[in-house]
Amino acid sequence: MERTLGIIKPDAVSKGYAGKILAIIEENGFNIVGLKKIRLTKEKAEGFYYVHKDKPFFNSLTDFMSEGPIIVMVLEKENAIADWRKLMGATNPENAEEGTLRKMFAENIERNAVHGSDSPESAKYEISYFFNALELV
Ligand code: TYD
Repeated sequence: MERTLGIIKPDAVSKGYAGKILAIIEENGFNIVGLKKIRLTKEKAEGFYYVHKDKPFFNSLTDFMSEGPIIVMVLEKENAIADWRKLMGATNPENAEEGTLRKMFAENIERNAVHGSDSPESAKYEISYFFNALELV
């Protein structure tokens, strides 16, 4: 079994898509082992996206991620990291395949509804950024 960090981003939470997205996550065989609704400060968003700190979109991205509540989740299944990214779809929803969450729920490349860790190393860092061991069941 593998674990990954998923986020339902502020755009999707504010539009009321969280319940639909959670249902799709369960239908696709993920076990939700941790879940909470939080609001990031700008600083906490910057820490989370630290690897992108030199990118031109960093300031706008971290403003967006701190504009309203998000839902952070730890998702578990075999091959969870790759399977969750496949279910999310391409970063830019214009390129996302039918049936993916970003195709269904994203507005544009920045306001793209969901996040998923991209490697075992980032999953470990990102899970520990939001959850302690007692919060994972
Ligand atoms: P990235 O890690 O490339 O994508 P993914 O979320 O699919 O792993 O980028 C992180 C986030 O940064 C992405 O979800 C949205 C934002 N972003 C932009 O706002 N503009 C861009 O041009 C890119 C590449 C990303």
